[in-house]
Amino acid sequence: MTVEQRLPRVDEPKSAESWAEFFAAVKPGLSARTKFTREEPLATKTTMRVGGAARVYAEPTSVADLQVLLRAARTWGVAVHMLGRGSNLIVPDDGVEGLVVALAHEAWAGFAPRGDGCVTVGAGLRLKNLCGLAAKAGLVGFEFLEGIPGNVGGALRMNAGAMGGWMFDVVEDVSLMTIEGDVRTLAKATMHVGYRHCAELHDAIALAAVLRPATTSDAEAVKRQMDAYSRKRHESQPREPSAGCIFKNPPENSAGRLIDACGLKGARVGDAEVSLTHANFIVNRGSATAADVLELVRQVRARVQAIKGVDLEPEVLLYGKNWKDVL
Ligand code: EPU
Repeated sequence: MTVEQRLPRVDEPKSAESWAEFFAAVKPGLSARTKFTREEPLATKTTMRVGGAARVYAEPTSVADLQVLLRAARTWGVAVHMLGRGSNLIVPDDGVEGLVVALAHEAWAGFAPRGDGCVTVGAGLRLKNLCGLAAKAGLVGFEFLEGIPGNVGGALRMNAGAMGGWMFDVVEDVSLMTIEGDVRTLAKATMHVGYRHCAELHDAIALAAVLRPATTSDAEAVKRQMDAYSRKRHESQPREPSAGCIFKNPPENSAGRLIDACGLKGARVGDAEVSLTHANFIVNRGSATAADVLELVRQVRARVQAIKGVDLEPEVLLYGKNWKDVL
């Protein structure tokens, strides 16, 4: 038998006792500073503000602790899910059957300019802070990231984009930890990235990246460009809680324009509503559940398919589940 075959499968349902056993077995191997909890509520850790709890949740404070977590999860057949700023996902109401890991501790939020003009950034650094620090240092080329409510790790994993720029436009290399707990650094040229996608980070966890600014300028000029993007975003995107754009743009088309043209702005299931500001956003008007959001996603897809003949593919992650199982 191979090692793979002997390991428990991650998709086998686990009882409350086996989660308790897993938790008790892992805890002694972690440093005291690492947050490690059971049944951690996730809704408030996401921008959509819906959904249940993580069976087990960790905020590791070091590479060693992250290794302990990943290796234990593998041994116990526990699925691992990374949580960034929670801005691009919907947590199901029954929560997540797995170990949710967030690089939320400041140990992962580094910003270190190097002698060669590049800057090393930690995966846990918020994009907003990256932009602020880059502006102060007069580094040009990161302005498009202003206002994306994510962190560096999430932006790498999704190859986040806005205002015509893409995360991987500014990446030189990425340090990551494989699901087996090994640390590697990959040059961008060896990675497979596309629209809202990075193959190498599908199962691995980004730890840090080296970014190359396009050029340097004075801090005021960088700040002016960021403010211009910020104004544009505020005019065109809703301020209510949401998960950002729900669907990917189909080739040569715009999901927002298609949904709008189908007359769906303001369509509602419970407190989930197709935004009146931008039709590719579903907003939480107060007490929406994940079930409300999913039902609205289904209805929007069905209408766009019936009227326009286009199958919209979700862009946001359905955390811990597959969209095809619920659509
Ligand atoms: N439009 C409508 N009605 C709407 C919304 C948009 O007619 O309700 C039209 C706009 O007038 C415009 C076109 O659709 O002509 C495209 O709209 P927009 O410029 O807002 O860009 P988008 O394609 O909808 C993309 C990204 C956003 C990113 C913006 C700005 C996707 C799915 N969306 O939106 O990313 O912020 O460009 O660069 O790629 C996200 O990924 O979560 C996200 C918000």
